[in-house]
Amino acid sequence: MRVAVCFNTVPAVAGKGEAVDRISEEGAEAEALSVAAALRQRGHVAELIPLGEQIDSFIVGLRTFAPDVAFNLCEGFWGESRREMHVAALFDLLGVYRTGSPPLCLGLTQDKARTKDILLQHGLPTPKSALVRPGEKFPRVRGLDYPLFVKPRFEDASLGITSDSIVHNEKELLRRIAYIHATYRQGALVEEYIDGREFNVAIFGNNPAEVLPISEIRFAKGLDRPIVSYAGKWLEGSPEYTATEPICPARLSKKDELLIGHLALRAYRLLECRDYARVDIRMRDHIPYILEINANPDISPDAGLARSARVGGHSYPDLVEKIVGMAQKRKEAGHA
Ligand SMILES: Nc1ncnc2c1ncn2[C@@H]1O[C@H](COP(=O)(O)OP(=O)(O)OP(=O)(O)O)[C@@H](O)[C@H]1O
Ligand SMILES: [Mg+2]
Repeated sequence: MRVAVCFNTVPAVAGKGEAVDRISEEGAEAEALSVAAALRQRGHVAELIPLGEQIDSFIVGLRTFAPDVAFNLCEGFWGESRREMHVAALFDLLGVYRTGSPPLCLGLTQDKARTKDILLQHGLPTPKSALVRPGEKFPRVRGLDYPLFVKPRFEDASLGITSDSIVHNEKELLRRIAYIHATYRQGALVEEYIDGREFNVAIFGNNPAEVLPISEIRFAKGLDRPIVSYAGKWLEGSPEYTATEPICPARLSKKDELLIGHLALRAYRLLECRDYARVDIRMRDHIPYILEINANPDISPDAGLARSARVGGHSYPDLVEKIVGMAQKRKEAGHA
């Protein structure tokens, strides 16, 4: 099969955020190289097609290569993660069958506040929260119990998450909201802080979708705050990084494992994710709370989804090839 492996590049200077945020965004090419290598190992013809500032040349690249399907790793457009859904829609408009979730799912899940509204509407647990839009001077957080957790409404990859994200009083709260507004130029999502264990649940496939072995994020005792901060996720060598370790499979009672897995699966189906996704959950007193749904998670060999897949018996080339097969199946059905 001919597979176009598409990823997005970012401008040298970002329009918002912190300077270190680039580290997470620059991993896209390495991710694309891994996916392409896995496909070639299985005898497919894979070509990397980067999406930069010029949409025209991306389209020409795609048309010239004429793939059977595209593996879409694009997480935004030229530094704007909010355009992730637009890029997915572009493939659909061009008639190029591709891997991954539909544009509406990508757009909704990127909006953590809207996603929570939908989850609650359907009785799925998520921490109590309030959205504070830029310009709102008096956040309506009555009814929420401290400590609270403040994060950007639309980012991922733990952007804007540090130990200061946990706030204990109004003064700290207002300061952190102001930081999110000024640095990330978007709403601040204020949630009740869930003091408990943290799990990543990878879901794989469609009808039926499979819950892969659950991964737990273990925080070393010495860690100041047991959260996945930006440093904990990306800054190798930092104390946070060393103290944040994923363990797969997580040690859970059968009951908790089923509870968490089933909850993640319901969220995957509710938001209409496709092919693969990862649901982040925290559990306190045996009650799981959904933090967010990653409908386009990192699929590098050393990232969480591939780790869970390996433990579940899907080697990396298997995982990648099966995902391509899902797009190919849609193509065949579309042509039938
Ligand atoms: N309500 C909460 N209570 C406790 N910890 C939280 C809460 N919300 C977020 N966190 C911590 O912050 C981390 C990042 O939050 P979240 O997963 O919502 O953001 P993200 O940037 O989209 O993450 P990802 O890197 O998974 O894309 C979580 O992994 C968790 O450790
Ligand atoms: Mg997360």
